[in-house]
Amino acid sequence: MNSMVSTSFVVLVLLGTIHVVSASSSYDEPAKYRSQEDDHQVPSSYYNDQNYDDHQPSDLEGVFSLTVPNLFPDIRDKKKPSIAYDDSLSSNYYYRSCPDFESIVSKKVWEWVAKDDSLAPSLLRLHFHDCAVRGCDASVLLNHEGSERKATVSKTLRGFEVIDEIKAEIEKKCPRTVSCSDILTAAARDATVAAGGRYWTVDYGRKDGLVSIAKEAESLMPMGHESITDLIELFQSLGLDIDDLVALSGAHTIGRSSCGAIQYWLYNYTTSTNYGLQDLSIDPKFYDYLQRKCRWASDYVDLDATTPKNFDNEYFINLIYRKIGLLSTDRLLYSDPRTSYIVKTLAYDSSTFYLQFKKSMKKLGNVQVLTGPKEGEIRTNCNFVNSPNY
Ligand code: HEM
Repeated sequence: MNSMVSTSFVVLVLLGTIHVVSASSSYDEPAKYRSQEDDHQVPSSYYNDQNYDDHQPSDLEGVFSLTVPNLFPDIRDKKKPSIAYDDSLSSNYYYRSCPDFESIVSKKVWEWVAKDDSLAPSLLRLHFHDCAVRGCDASVLLNHEGSERKATVSKTLRGFEVIDEIKAEIEKKCPRTVSCSDILTAAARDATVAAGGRYWTVDYGRKDGLVSIAKEAESLMPMGHESITDLIELFQSLGLDIDDLVALSGAHTIGRSSCGAIQYWLYNYTTSTNYGLQDLSIDPKFYDYLQRKCRWASDYVDLDATTPKNFDNEYFINLIYRKIGLLSTDRLLYSDPRTSYIVKTLAYDSSTFYLQFKKSMKKLGNVQVLTGPKEGEIRTNCNFVNSPNY
């Protein structure tokens, strides 16, 4: 009897908690989004599917954007987005010129991830770093003195060898046809799926850039100790909004961080307000664990402490209920009123997370793409621009 009473109590408390989360979210998921969770499986005609076209511009609206009032016009409107949506890309771009392109990318990504599953998050991050500096133009892959890849912020980037191997294979089949930036975009999608995330269609036709400057990466790329205002402004400059910021931060549901990225607050808790860390709400046990785990800057720790290998919405649940967000920027997403309601919604409903992540990744993949006839080139080797005699 006693156990029945206590079980009922637990159930009631849980229901109450869910209700509170649901009620405190300013967003009620419209029915149309619930029934449109369409990309959750790889479509049967995975490659070059002409009918599988779900990228109407309206689809790029954030799931929250219609319901959330613009409470912070000064910040949201400060910078005009550099791009909104580039419709010169197409999912059928290589349909005739390189029909096996997507299957080659997918096969290689799955092979590499089967050997080393830590490569899935690394490929996803590599794509973000590419798109955030000079747009998605494979500038992060250029490997010369003073290039983005040589920047301190790029020190822990990985996955270059995967892209090189894919490129070599594709050059054999379709020489001088497929850009490195398209390969990286497709690889990031396939890596997400390999980690358990949902499939989305990718549009192609990006050209590769000719310029890559370490200092630009250094000044643009976030390192995990920025304020939410900094992050909102960075995303706005890329044409991405607050919904995108929160959903894409959900990529931290997989992968790891070097301890070097968190040591500035881990061993400096009292002065951490200097870094915009007003929110110090972190589980004390987790904090102790990190202090033991992160003795050396070169050590690594999982970004999602509960399900680090699964692409799910545990990252958001961890921020709210367990107080075990690893990066201070992750924790700030929940403590800042501009973003906390989105964190709550994505924690509450995983299908909304998958849907918004897909939309936001498509937007990320469209940032400042080079598509004009005189813009960029198709590199033959992703590490170097083509020689002038090419
Ligand atoms: C919102 C601002 C962001 C900040 C402040 C941030 C910061 C970081 C930091 C500090 C790390 C660890 C780096 C290290 O090892 O030293 C990291 C890892 C990672 N980030 Fe982000 N990030 C952000 C956005 C994104 C976005 C938009 C994506 C992808 C869509 C992403 C995907 C990842 C992944 C998957 C990892 C793990 C990489 C691995 O395991 O190799 N991040 N991020």
